[in-house]
Formats: sequence, structure tokens, C-alpha cells
Amino acid sequence: MFLGAGSLMAGEPDRVDERVRELLGRMTMAEKIGQMTQVNGAGGSIPDELAEAVKAGRIGSILNEVDVDTVNRLQRLAVEESPNGIPLLMGRDVIHGFKTVLPIPLGQAATWNPDLVRRGARVAALEAASAGVNWSFAPMIDVTRDPRWGRIAESFGEDPLLHSVFGVAMIEGFQGEHLSDHGSIAACAKHFAGYGASESGRDYNTTNIPENELRNVYLPPFKASVDAGVATIMASFSDLDGVPASANAFLFRQILREEWGFEGFVVSDWASIEQLSIHGLTANDRESAHAAVTAGVNMEMATSTYADHLPGLLQAGEVDLELIDEMVAPILRTKLEMGLFENPYTDPGSFPAMSNPDHLAVARELAEQSIVLLKNDDRVLPLDREKLTSLAVIGPLADDGYEQLGTWIFDGDETISQTPLKALREFLGESVSIRHVRGLETTRSRDTAEFEKAVSAATESDAVLVFVGEESILSGEAHSRADIGLPGAQLDLLRRLGETGKPVITVIMAGRPLTLGETADATDALLFAWHPGTMAGPAITNVLFGVEAPSGKLPVTFPRMVGQVPIYYAHKNTGKPATPETFRHIDDIPVRMPQTSSGFVSSHLDAGYTPLYPFGFGLSYTEFEYSDIRLSDERVPMGESITVTATVQNVGEVEAEEVVQLYVRDPVANVTRPVRELKAFERVRLRPGERREVSFGLAASDLAFYGRDMRLTTEAGSFHVWVGGDSNADLRATFTLIE
Ligand code: NOJ
Repeated sequence: MFLGAGSLMAGEPDRVDERVRELLGRMTMAEKIGQMTQVNGAGGSIPDELAEAVKAGRIGSILNEVDVDTVNRLQRLAVEESPNGIPLLMGRDVIHGFKTVLPIPLGQAATWNPDLVRRGARVAALEAASAGVNWSFAPMIDVTRDPRWGRIAESFGEDPLLHSVFGVAMIEGFQGEHLSDHGSIAACAKHFAGYGASESGRDYNTTNIPENELRNVYLPPFKASVDAGVATIMASFSDLDGVPASANAFLFRQILREEWGFEGFVVSDWASIEQLSIHGLTANDRESAHAAVTAGVNMEMATSTYADHLPGLLQAGEVDLELIDEMVAPILRTKLEMGLFENPYTDPGSFPAMSNPDHLAVARELAEQSIVLLKNDDRVLPLDREKLTSLAVIGPLADDGYEQLGTWIFDGDETISQTPLKALREFLGESVSIRHVRGLETTRSRDTAEFEKAVSAATESDAVLVFVGEESILSGEAHSRADIGLPGAQLDLLRRLGETGKPVITVIMAGRPLTLGETADATDALLFAWHPGTMAGPAITNVLFGVEAPSGKLPVTFPRMVGQVPIYYAHKNTGKPATPETFRHIDDIPVRMPQTSSGFVSSHLDAGYTPLYPFGFGLSYTEFEYSDIRLSDERVPMGESITVTATVQNVGEVEAEEVVQLYVRDPVANVTRPVRELKAFERVRLRPGERREVSFGLAASDLAFYGRDMRLTTEAGSFHVWVGGDSNADLRATFTLIE
């Protein structure tokens, strides 16, 4: 029998709660446990066993089913044949687009453009929803300071503020105004919590994060997501200070529910409840189910410890009925708020077509704004189409519609990928002859057989474009690297091309920061394009030819050597910070120089103490000058705000966009604070010569941090503030926060 939810609309919380209570009153224990169970779909078919389980109400959610007819048939079984007619949540990893692939999230963060990221997530939501997906396992808002970690590609980089801003933008894009709106899908902020701190960047590895750091660095993006109304949260695979996240009551009960008042539900990660015994926390699946449910994990993904053991645990009195109701209620509430009871079926015809021109335009814009110019000697870029007669296009990523898409592209359509070679041919037409040589079969190849051909093509051309980097599979889940240089013989290829004396312009596509010192030395210009997605070609071509000046800024620090990791801008000062005057390079240390008992400064003898490219960095085809920083007041009472204003001027010759960044330092506090923290940013477009006053409001509460007592506090005292184009900005002012 189908007991529909009436005309319940989002925004009627009392009615939702009433319906949840009614449903809970009717459901059997088996159905309740069913709502707590998510199984993997069969990919376009419904095996008998699955059909029976759905009809019996033993399944609350299915993941990885994207065939819309199959989704509708499954929903029909749930809604029309299961005892209480509860529709299914259909989950999928819609990480950076669906059929239309957007840049990887790390690339999206390089746009520093939350509005564009929101629009991208909306495109992804519409395409996914038209396939029957109603729940995306994104955004991933794991702050990470380790480029070895393959999942850095899925993150927004190293900074808590960027994660908060872009996490919220994605949630808004997915969930829309109301979860029940046509085209809205539920978002899932993941992975709670601390996954990005996996030791040595090796995926799934242990994390040990002191509570103060957890609260100041890793949790704020999740708090922002909860405040923005994220529907669900996913538990992390990782072990946090000895208690794997999937059994961590401190995370789910204390922080998420008690401190933040989260009303959505928590899903485990794939088999992460079952894995509690592999971690060594529990002795068997029964204990794992007990540990996870008492910690507050509402739904189990992929494995069946809940389905197998909750009945027995209830019978033995080790879990009580109230706990099960407490776990099931938010799942039902989410389904009601999504309007699934009223609209369980998907009509693909009611959605815009997949990969339509509007969707491709958003993908192109995101890719364009994500590209970071790292080097541009002698202003070799932008290229001038009028002056070129021939161009060599070299490299394993110049014409590979699959590899430009990046990790997590389950539904991405490589047949619609526009590669750089294709886009360059279209843009340049007949007037420029293009010589294309792959040079290396893949980014990992060491076979140099095609080098001579590549060198001849370069020799015969006016300029050389080289597309190198990492294939998609070299980043993402379980794809960590210990050496983050350019793989294979790519650096050798670049060096050989450089010997031709022709201008060499290198475009890197990759899923993480790479150690690029030697690469930069071997090339005249260097563009970092991340994995740009479907529209890589047009986006890169527009930037190379100055149709749009590059405007991406690094959302993560690029180290000189992997041994510097973790290296990030918001580090603590230490008691012995290095300076240009005090640092001594290994080559400058005299043989048998006596050691002193006062030691030296905090640095690596071989790599120094600075990164290759700092957080926030990115060049343009013009230059921006910053001046005249001023404050609305130099003394700010607690609870109030000030305005920080600076002037930025385009002092070059082309129109371009700049990301103006504001950093703060609290020089003396109850716990030591970072040397700089990003507090605000704004993208501005300036014509040549144009100057603009950019103002940021800074509230006393923006200066709050968790102190020794683990409470959010704001301390009186002086603060420094900088405004500029990257995290090394030197335009500074100082104000005092007063009681
Ligand atoms: C495991 C990943 O850690 C998680 O992020 C993802 O959503 C699930 N698998 C489902 O594919």
C-alpha cells in the first residue's frame, strides 16, 4: 500500500516531523534497518534479489545506478510495492560534472570564483537528476596540505576558507533554493573528518590531529556546510587519533549533532563500518555495527553489518529501539524534504539536454578561469595569431579526450571532449600550419623513439606548445604518489625541445601540485591547467592567444621538493623562523663548520624554507599594482567590524581579472596562530590603466579561533592585515581589537 506524504513542501518543518513520526509508527524494525542500508546497483538491471529486497522495504538507498528507466523501475517497486511506500535515495559520485565534465575540484578552486563553481554544480545537478540520481557524494571538503595524496584533486586545496566558500557554493548548486525543486539533488559533505591529513599522503592512512588543529583547520568547512543546509555528511575511512571515523562518537554525536545541531543524516563510506575490525577497533562485524550505530552513523554504504547484526543487537538489548528511530528519522526527513514521496520518478524530457551549449559554456568558463600562469619569460605569451605561420603541438596530453577529464568521471563522455589540438585547429584555421607529434605515448612513457620527430616539428615551427602532466589515473582515490615530479620522460622531452631555441610554452594538466623547478627552467612559459575537463581545448586556446588573460590563482602551495611537504602558507612561525639573511644553503656551508648549541633557523638545507610557488599565486598578461591600504578604524570594539580598503591598478596593457586577497595575522594569542590566514577575496576585472578601490568588511568574529580550552574565542590585541595578489602580499596595516 502506498501511503503518500500528501502535498508536503520544503519549508514546513512541523509537517515533516509529523510525517516522520507517523512513518516510524508504522514501520517494522526490518524496514527501519532497511532505511539504514545502502546497496550497490547492478548497472542497468534489477536482479531478483534486489527487487525482492526493495519490495520488502529492506533498502533505503542504492548507489551507482544511472540508467533512468532502471531507476524509475526501482522507485516504482519502492513506492508502489513496499509496505510503507518509501522512495529510494539514488546516490552517485557526481564530483565535477556528469556527462559534461568540469575541471577537477582543485582546478575549480583555482578560479577563486564561487559563483561560477555554484553554476557548475547546478549543471552537474541537472544532468545527474535527468538520469534519476537524487544524491551526489560531493563536495569533498577535506583540507589537505599534502600533494602526494591522490585525493587532493577532489579537494579545494590547503585552506579552510577556500574549502568553506567552495563547499557551500557546490552545495547551493546541487541543492538549489529548495531540496524539492526540480533539478535539485542532495549534497554530501565529506569525509568527516580529517581524511586530508592521511600520513605521508598515502590514501586511507592513519591521521593524528590534535583537537585544536582539528577545530581550527579541518572542521570549519564542515561547519559552514551544515550552516548552509547540507543534507548529508559522509564518514571518513580514516582512523582519527585512534578511533576510526566510522565509530567516532566525538565527531558525530558531540560535534555534528550537539555543537552544530546538524539535522541531516550521516552515511558511512564504502564498507567503512565493516572495516572497523580491520582497523583493529572491533573484533567482528557485530561489534562494528554496534560501534558505528552508537557513534551516530545513520546509513551503511555497500556492506551489510547493520542489516545482518542490528536485529540481533536489538534482541540482546545491546542497542535499543529509540536509537534505531533516532538513526532512521533524519533519513526519512531528508526524503520528505526532497519531495521524493510526491515526485519519485524522473522524466528525462523535463530536463535540459545533457552537454547542451549552456552547460559547455559553464565548463569552458570554469576551465578558463582555473588556468594558472606560473611563468612567462619575455612575455612569450599571449601568442599572436597574426604573427604565427606554424606551430608545433607536442605531448601525450595534446589530443587525448580522456586524460584531460581527470579522476572521478564515471559518467563523463570522452567523445564530446574538445582537446587542445582540436581547439587550436579550429581557432587558427588554415592560416597557421600545425605540426602535431605525441612525443610520448603516455605521461609515464620512457620510450623516446618519437623525440626526433618532435624535435624536427619544433625546429620547423615558429613556436612550440607542449602538453604534459599526469594522466587521470595518477591522482584520485588510492592513487597517491611519493615522487610528484613530471612522470616518465616528459622532462627530457621538454629539454630536447628547448634545445631547438624556439619559444617553448608548456601546458601542464595534472591532478595535484607537482615539483616543477626543472620543468620551469626548461620552458619559456608555463601554464598549469589541472585536469580541465570536457572543454580543456577551447579554454586553453583562449588563454594562450589572449582572448582571456589567465586569472587562476593557486589554491595550494607548490613545493620545490617533495621533502618539504607539508608546506603551506598558513604555517606557524616557530621560535626560529628563517629569513633571507639567516638561511644558509647546503652549498654555502663551510666544510667542518662548527655546530653551535643555539642551532640555526627552521629550514631545509637543500630546499630552503620557501615554496616554488606560493598559495594564491598566479601571473597575468598584465600587472597589477597595489597601494594605499587603509582601515575604517584602527580600533575595533569586540562584536563590531571594520572595513579594509586598498587600491589595485592595472598598470599593463591588457584587460584582465585579478583576485584580490586579504590576509590576517594575530601575532600574540593564547595558542600560537598562523603567520597568515586568508580571510576574504574578490575577483575584479580592470581595463588597462584602470584603478579600483576594493573594500572588505572584517568582523571581530572573523578573528575568532579555538583556544587552549577548545572554545571559540576572540582575543583583544593587535592584528596585521595584508591586501595583495598572493599570500606573500606586502601591503600591510595594523589595527587593535579592544574589549
Ligand atoms: C569511496 C570514497 O571514499 C567516497 O568518497 C565515495 O563517495 C564512495 N567510495 C562511493 O563511491
